[in-house]
Amino acid sequence: MSWEHVSSGKVRDIYRLDEDRLVLVTSDRISAFDVVMAEPIADKGRVLTALSAFWLERLRDVAPHHLLSVDVPAGAPSALGGLGGLAGRVMVVRRAEMLPIECVVRGYLSGSAWAEYRRSGTMHGQALPAGLRQSERLPEAVFTPSTKAEVGHDENISFDQAAELVGVETAKLAREISLELYRRGAAWAAERGIIVADTKFELGFIDGELAICDEVLTPDSSRFWPVEGWQPGATPPSFDKQPLRDWLEETGWDKTPPPPALPDQVVAATRRRYVEAYERLSGARLADWPPTAGGATAEADGGADGGVAYAVTGDAGAEAVGGADGGVTGAGDGGADGAAADAGERR
Ligand SMILES: Nc1ncnc2c1ncn2[C@@H]1O[C@H](COP(=O)(O)OP(=O)(O)OP(=O)(O)O)[C@@H](O)[C@H]1O
Ligand SMILES: [Mg+2]
Repeated sequence: MSWEHVSSGKVRDIYRLDEDRLVLVTSDRISAFDVVMAEPIADKGRVLTALSAFWLERLRDVAPHHLLSVDVPAGAPSALGGLGGLAGRVMVVRRAEMLPIECVVRGYLSGSAWAEYRRSGTMHGQALPAGLRQSERLPEAVFTPSTKAEVGHDENISFDQAAELVGVETAKLAREISLELYRRGAAWAAERGIIVADTKFELGFIDGELAICDEVLTPDSSRFWPVEGWQPGATPPSFDKQPLRDWLEETGWDKTPPPPALPDQVVAATRRRYVEAYERLSGARLADWPPTAGGATAEADGGADGGVAYAVTGDAGAEAVGGADGGVTGAGDGGADGAAADAGERR
């Protein structure tokens, strides 16, 4: 089996196994203010992979998903040797026809949504109640899509603009799936002391069905706030890159490459937050990931021999969506179910 390089993003390297399957390799690279730092954050790729696999399994009744296996297929290119081992950072997925939008859901008013609200009292063009404060919980979670910019920042768009890009029916289904994923994920996280302020999903068609792709509810695709640090009117310390961003701000760096070299303690603090997010949300130890370390099967066809197999196209299709909302209510005692997401602006 050979891996054919398809593309490399700031964080992931993507390879093609065959017509139907891709390998997503998540590196330990970290970006802040859209610039990739020179120093890797040890274990970050494993955290993002483990957390995505955790959520995809847990939320599989909401919609089908792309994950086939987290075992490392044979034939990895030697160029990937520099990543410090592939085990635990690889997802073999069904190749999907990706929607050209980012499916952002916001439960709290932050980031670009806060900026727009402050300017015009709206969020993605939609009116919001007056008098909301920064980081305030929204009356209900809102689907706030954005474009997927090839270069530069993603742009916030209205639901109608999203419908123009993907068709009304698909946009409605994407909204329904995204809101349900958010509500369920946010309720789960709130019980574990983490507010999902916002998050971004990427959906695509697999065998004609809209499926959950990419990474899911990770510190890179979401704003995670510790429940105890949240207070409307201020920006809570985020659960992920906050120590890094704080430090970068203090240096007075102008946010153009090259970034300053990161001190060891900033790298270590960042790593701790990623690992803690995973361990709190999943209830598992990162040390136990991947589940079959060493014994992985080379087959990525969903065979369950030794490896962990993920049912791809779920048994429950779109009709399962919207069946169970409610997840969010009663989530945190602070009343925090919500989450909203900011796609490109922070990464
Ligand atoms: N099942 C899938 N089929 C096809 N493409 C996918 C699938 N899952 C994820 N992708 C795509 O793979 C890419 C993931 O790579 P990565 O996150 O590194 O890059 P990015 O998000 O495009 O850019 P960056 O992270 O640099 O801002 C995304 O473009 C995503 O849309
Ligand atoms: Mg991405």
